[in-house]
Amino acid sequence: MKKTTLIVLGILLIAPLSFAGENGEILFKGMGCMSCHHPETTSKINPSLADIAHAYQGKQQQLIGYLNGMEDAIVKPEKAGMMKRHVEKTKALTDQERSALAEFILRY
Ligand code: HEC
Repeated sequence: MKKTTLIVLGILLIAPLSFAGENGEILFKGMGCMSCHHPETTSKINPSLADIAHAYQGKQQQLIGYLNGMEDAIVKPEKAGMMKRHVEKTKALTDQERSALAEFILRY
């Protein structure tokens, strides 16, 4: 096999792995989630990323399900209405994008 072919194959194999964390951050910022969810600061209404990550520790699949509109809110269920519009946006993403978002959130 030619060296260039090997390099191309290598990139194809590595790309989906590095996609997750970085693209999660790009998506989170690009979709305006950061305007309400700050890394550490919890407002009266909005949970921080750390709050969300804490609630979903070890529950990545459940978080992905929530972002796909299939699981109920567990952080502040009484304020779940505020997220409705945003869950509609995350429902429209691909599975890979939702996983990337969840991975990004769970880093906190
Ligand atoms: C207008 C402010 C606002 C924006 C913008 C926003 N959120 Fe939220 N989010 C909230 C509030 C308030 C809660 C608490 C209610 C709740 O827990 O459902 C919340 C809760 C959450 C939770 C925890 C859900 C749970 O189980 O309780 C996740 C995950 C989340 N947001 C992700 C996102 C993502 C991803 C985006 C961007 C697409 C986003 N949010 C945009 C206000 C916002």
